[in-house]
Amino acid sequence: MINLGIIGCGSVMQGPYMDLVNKYIFKKLIKLKSISDINSNLEPILRKKFFFDKFYTNYKNILNDDEIDAVLILTSMNEHSMIAKQALLNNKHVLVEKPMATKIDDLKGLLKVARSSSKFLIPAPFVTLSPTYQAINSELKNKTIGKVSLARARYGWAGPNWGEWYYNTGGGPLFDLGVYNITSLTGLLGPVKNLFAKSSLSSKYRTINKRKIKANTNDNFQIMLEFKSGCIGVVTTGFTMQQYKSAAIELYGSTGTIQMLGDDWEPKGYEIWRNSRSSWELYSTPYANWPWTSGFSHLVDCLINNKKPLIKIDHAYHVNEIMIKIYESSKKNQEMSINSTFQTLQFPKKIKTKKSHLDHDRDHDGV
Ligand SMILES: NC(=O)c1ccc[n+]([C@@H]2O[C@H](COP(=O)([O-])OP(=O)(O)OC[C@H]3O[C@@H](n4cnc5c(N)ncnc54)[C@H](O)[C@@H]3O)[C@@H](O)[C@H]2O)c1
Repeated sequence: MINLGIIGCGSVMQGPYMDLVNKYIFKKLIKLKSISDINSNLEPILRKKFFFDKFYTNYKNILNDDEIDAVLILTSMNEHSMIAKQALLNNKHVLVEKPMATKIDDLKGLLKVARSSSKFLIPAPFVTLSPTYQAINSELKNKTIGKVSLARARYGWAGPNWGEWYYNTGGGPLFDLGVYNITSLTGLLGPVKNLFAKSSLSSKYRTINKRKIKANTNDNFQIMLEFKSGCIGVVTTGFTMQQYKSAAIELYGSTGTIQMLGDDWEPKGYEIWRNSRSSWELYSTPYANWPWTSGFSHLVDCLINNKKPLIKIDHAYHVNEIMIKIYESSKKNQEMSINSTFQTLQFPKKIKTKKSHLDHDRDHDGV
């Protein structure tokens, strides 16, 4: 039984994370011991919805509890690095929502602690765990579309109407949404060597929790990434996209094309064009219910079955450095080089891509 603590009890905790946590409580794999939020008004609401022992307004009570094995950090972004660092230093396994850090010094500090800790640090996002993503990854490894020279990724929407912090420094669509695309593209294509980015503020005011607020951070991004492989990629992200029907990821190779359908955090499948067949093939996802919170299932799986996480800190660090440099690039109107790199991601499980017709219960996130 894993004793769990959760820090930050807003939208994402009360919805998607608790759906999974409840599943593992029901299976008796987890006990939700304590939760923490600076907003004490949440306690009665949370008590009506969920079972847990203690509620604290100061998260340090969770970190100081020796019985707690693992913590989920689901606060606003500027708090992530400090809490994650303290949690590792207090011998907790950590799952931290994205980004790990909003500033480079905090990112470096967290990496240093994580490298010397025996506990797991599992940073979101978890797109590389999706079976659709891993199927595309093995198509690239098998050279199904040859050498990839161009890539595109996009993720956006109109923007949250809760959480004022989303529109302040350390919030914004790059850390919130673009992070998925950058994780996907780097995972598939390898490290980035340099980048150039433009960003802007489309709307000076937003309505948050029915109140008009002034927006203080850019909400609209076009980013160009040059990969070490020679591939050139673009990422489009913003709280400025009302709808779309385009592919989430497009990969253009020397003998074909691959497109991931839907969003990379919720893939609907993928399509391949091969010159040799001169036709499109559609692989609908055999894992329709893959949840974007599956990093939590992965943490539980690693702890219970004594496995090493597939989410790698050096990859997450690389993605985080890229994002911080995107801000710098767009501010200075200048190309930025990236210092970090990471080992090619390895996925031991072979993905079954053609069995969608046999997929009935669509529950594929069990531990
Ligand atoms: N909402 C989504 O759809 C979504 C999806 C994926 C990931 N995320 C990520 O999840 C995280 C939280 O997002 P959200 O939408 O739930 O935000 P939110 O504003 O709804 O919730 C964040 C909560 O953290 C609390 N908090 C802030 N500082 C704290 C501290 N020091 N100690 C304890 N609690 C603290 C706030 O009071 C708030 O209740 C972010 O990193 C976001 O990027 C959100």
